[in-house]
Amino acid sequence: MNPKKILLIIGGGIAAYKTLELIRRAQDRGFEISVVMTGAAQHFVTPLSVSTLAKGRLYSDLFDRQEDMDVGHIRLSRQADIVVVAPATADLMAKMSHGLADDLASATLLANDKPVLLAPGMNPNMWEHPATRRNRAQLAEDGVQFVGPMAGEMAEANEAGTGRMAEPDEILEAVQAILGVPKAGPLSGKHVLITAGPTHEPIDPVRYIANRSSGKQGYAIARAAQAAGAKVTLVSGPVDIAAPDGVKLVSVQTARQMKQAVIEALPADIAIMCAAVADWRATHEADRKQKKDGSGKPAALELTENPDILAYVAQQSDPRPALVIGFAAETDNLIDNATSKRLRKGCDWLVANDVSQEGVMGGDHNAVHLIRDSGIEAWPQAGKQAVAERLMSEIIQHFQ
Ligand code: PMT
Repeated sequence: MNPKKILLIIGGGIAAYKTLELIRRAQDRGFEISVVMTGAAQHFVTPLSVSTLAKGRLYSDLFDRQEDMDVGHIRLSRQADIVVVAPATADLMAKMSHGLADDLASATLLANDKPVLLAPGMNPNMWEHPATRRNRAQLAEDGVQFVGPMAGEMAEANEAGTGRMAEPDEILEAVQAILGVPKAGPLSGKHVLITAGPTHEPIDPVRYIANRSSGKQGYAIARAAQAAGAKVTLVSGPVDIAAPDGVKLVSVQTARQMKQAVIEALPADIAIMCAAVADWRATHEADRKQKKDGSGKPAALELTENPDILAYVAQQSDPRPALVIGFAAETDNLIDNATSKRLRKGCDWLVANDVSQEGVMGGDHNAVHLIRDSGIEAWPQAGKQAVAERLMSEIIQHFQ
């Protein structure tokens, strides 16, 4: 695979020293990196150090004829997959938000058509100044993305607050998330397909059949899989939470759309079906809002069974994911019902949760049983992220 290319613009701030480490770590992660330094940046780190680390790909002066003939400020960003500005100073942000282009860095940013990630680094008063606030709001509206700044001690004695530039690894993780580059980890190279959230099955234009699933458990699993280095596709019903960075989100409404999205996302190495798919849908979806007819009798609602997505994935062979994990939401006879569900649907593992307990469906905690051929394990109640991480470590062990 061709390496992804970062164009790093180093601004003139004390945090510029961290960009030497950023360049080195970016290369360790397989990125190719070119650098533009502003005039001010050269007071904080030497062009010689940067050029040595960046293997000579350093550009600094808009009016340097040789450089302009070699690359040109327009081509500089066009050759990159992403432009990273670190540290993004108050001055550079002001220039960007106003479209100024009086040096190579600002001209490159104005000519750029690639994603831009800013890692601001400045004194907390500068960060909180109304002018900087206006500029960053404008930049966010223009589609520019930010990593940091962080809170903490500043270079100035006795100063603390928000303004510290993000660390090199944090910046690179944001870059990877934006570019969809999976992190290195025990599940690197594996595709994990996850369903999450409820489905909404329309009755008429204003009503639907749904359930209380919030998507939290499935999204936590997606986060854990992403952290383990997997490529993650998350097929989600309607929820109010944001997908983890770098995860491919496919949003759907109904069970039939979810099944189609799952089919399109296959093949996968691991399928984890955590969605609370509505078992039934209205047989006929009315194209107008259904009215009371004055008789006092409720309208009949004929239901049709939805396709079973878990059973489809577990029983297909074209190719079947190496590990298929289902969930079971039970209100009674948890273990018996879940054990027979696992056999009926044909999944390898089944995570059983008792949804009669307060806060499992829609809440932040879960207490599950993991049912496998090798036996049944009861896990103590924990936050959904902790449950997701434990499940992920079982998966990692399974593939070792
Ligand atoms: O979303 P949260 O608020 O965080 O809550 C998490 C959860 C309780 C929803 C989750 O942990 C959970 O239990 N998900 C499965 C819910 C469910 O629909 O269970 P079920 O027993 O009805 O279905 C069993 C399995 O078959 C599930 O893997 C389900 O995704 C799958 N299924 C069910 C019906 C259907 N038509 N297609 C399916 O794929």
